[in-house]
Amino acid sequence: MPQDFLISESVRAESEGHLTGLVSVADGVLDAARQRKVFEFLSEPGWQFGWKSDPKADPYAFWNKHFAGSIHPDHLLKDGNGRQYDCAEELQRNAPLVHEMWQHLRQTALSGHMLMRCYANGHTFGSDGSVHTDSLVEHSFTSVYYPHQKWEPNWGGETILFNKEKSDIVASIYPRPNRLVTFRGTVPHVARGVARVCPVMRITLMFKTERRQD
Ligand SMILES: [Fe+2]
Repeated sequence: MPQDFLISESVRAESEGHLTGLVSVADGVLDAARQRKVFEFLSEPGWQFGWKSDPKADPYAFWNKHFAGSIHPDHLLKDGNGRQYDCAEELQRNAPLVHEMWQHLRQTALSGHMLMRCYANGHTFGSDGSVHTDSLVEHSFTSVYYPHQKWEPNWGGETILFNKEKSDIVASIYPRPNRLVTFRGTVPHVARGVARVCPVMRITLMFKTERRQD
């Protein structure tokens, strides 16, 4: 089960109503065999190059694998209503192994959530993301799973969360193998680039969800 992420009281105060108690980190999400299977599945061919955190602003792209859901999230539309739909069945058809993982998550860390989109990103050195939000609505959540078997501190690739004003970092999440971090889609965040010494593609698996009742 997820635990409240440790955020200092001053940050909690500054971010009141925005982050408080809503960033959670769960470690040891899958058993070792399932974790390996998910990582091997994500490592297979099928990556598409050209994905961007902000298609209009970002000069550099990264790799992506889309599994299920709409690729037109709500923040791309003026009224904040995207084309989301429950995509669990679509995920079952397109990626049964990931769907099996989703079934596990919806009974544990993401209890009460509905799946809107599922995809993976791949970052190699030089393919940095940029600070962005995933959603305009408070009931939208982003969960990032780190499937790697191994990660080194010098490899970089942290997920960084910012306050609403983007004037300070409120959390930095280390890509610890078999970790899931969940935060509201309205929180500005970025996948920091991997360092030159990182010998692998940083793979993350995203579950975009909605939870109507808090
Ligand atoms: Fe994002």
